[in-house]
Amino acid sequence: MDHFNYRGERLFAEDIPVTELAERFGTPCYVYSRATLERHWHAFDRALGARPHLICFAVKANSNLGVLSLLARLGSGFDIVSVGELERVLAAGGEPDKIIFSGVGKGAAEIRRALEAGIRCFNVESEPELERIADVAADMDRVATVSLRVNPDVDARSHPYISTGLKENKFGIDIHAAEAVYRRAAALSHIHVAGIDCHIGSQLTELSPFLDALDHVLALADRLAEQGIAIEHLDLGGGLGIRYTDEAPPEPDAYAEALSARLGERDLEIILEPGRAIAGNAGILLTRVEYLKPTPTHNFAIVDAAMNDLLRPALYGAEQAIVPAVQRAGEPLPWDIVGPVCETGDFLGKARALVLAQGDLLAVRSSGAYGFTMSSNYNSRPRAAEVMVDGDRAHLVRRRERLADLYADESRLP
Ligand code: LLP
Repeated sequence: MDHFNYRGERLFAEDIPVTELAERFGTPCYVYSRATLERHWHAFDRALGARPHLICFAVKANSNLGVLSLLARLGSGFDIVSVGELERVLAAGGEPDKIIFSGVGKGAAEIRRALEAGIRCFNVESEPELERIADVAADMDRVATVSLRVNPDVDARSHPYISTGLKENKFGIDIHAAEAVYRRAAALSHIHVAGIDCHIGSQLTELSPFLDALDHVLALADRLAEQGIAIEHLDLGGGLGIRYTDEAPPEPDAYAEALSARLGERDLEIILEPGRAIAGNAGILLTRVEYLKPTPTHNFAIVDAAMNDLLRPALYGAEQAIVPAVQRAGEPLPWDIVGPVCETGDFLGKARALVLAQGDLLAVRSSGAYGFTMSSNYNSRPRAAEVMVDGDRAHLVRRRERLADLYADESRLP
């Protein structure tokens, strides 16, 4: 459930009509709902109940300081994949000892900064990375806490670009090779082995792949225990899907219940790294219709947001609902909602049944995750504004980029 609902014909973000937000902040504009973000975070936190756990929001889904700061105030942890995300979390007030560092290509400077900040754990994705972390930690005379991200070879049955748990993917350490790497890690003086990590993909709409992966991970934990390597936590990654159109993914409650049934009495802390399930339906993208352009084969509605603002439709063929800010009476027509960028792949939605007029305001739903964070300046388009709605108040949490920002860091040749 989210807080973007119609009252009469008008779409509201919490208690504010989105038309007001568009007038005040312009378009294209990302709008987030504080109540929705908090509700989704609490749904995960409550679902794990009394079992020791930490919910680490995946920063890549939405890294705006407004969003991170409100999650930090709830006591959230954070899953980061770069030093840039680390600095954002720290600037937002996140606690370093609730930060998990994932990602296949951590640089030495990133590792150093993370150790200096005092993060909780590195999710190690390869043996050479383990050696590098050990070297940097030794050089700083620190002990780095690690878990190994294992690749359990489980099919997440999601889009191939966002499935990560198959052995042909670049992620993690083959689960069969992992024991030897654990033995190596346990022998390193500046490494503390704390956990097992796995993340098999994103936008999963069923529980069985998660549970299959968990079975593999628990079996590995048992084998490690026999060798005297005690595992303190399991990090099961993110990946729980959301409803974009007609998907019916499990709720965090059902997910946690199924995990708990498998875990039984085991004394293991559970870490989850949800991104999309917290932020996805907590945001919309507002965009205005610039022109209607019916052609003999297609009705094009050219809007002021484009693939540079919201890449998911162009990149994955993702379908996100597109709805009017004010519902109009009339006979709907199928419209292709396209942006001004010079590519045929620049669309936000195809053949959407809508009643449209030039100047109408539209909302692309489910844009709170992997929306702004994947945006770019392609076609020299300034990136959109971001606004956080809190009841009847709206805060600009990122101002729209100015034209001069586009080339502020560039120089002409002398
Ligand atoms: N943890 C790790 C290690 C990850 O790689 C990811 C996502 C997450 C957690 C969070 O997954 P989530 O709960 O959001 O599914 N750009 C794509 C999604 C890419 C996800 C990459 N990794 C999209 O727009 O659908």
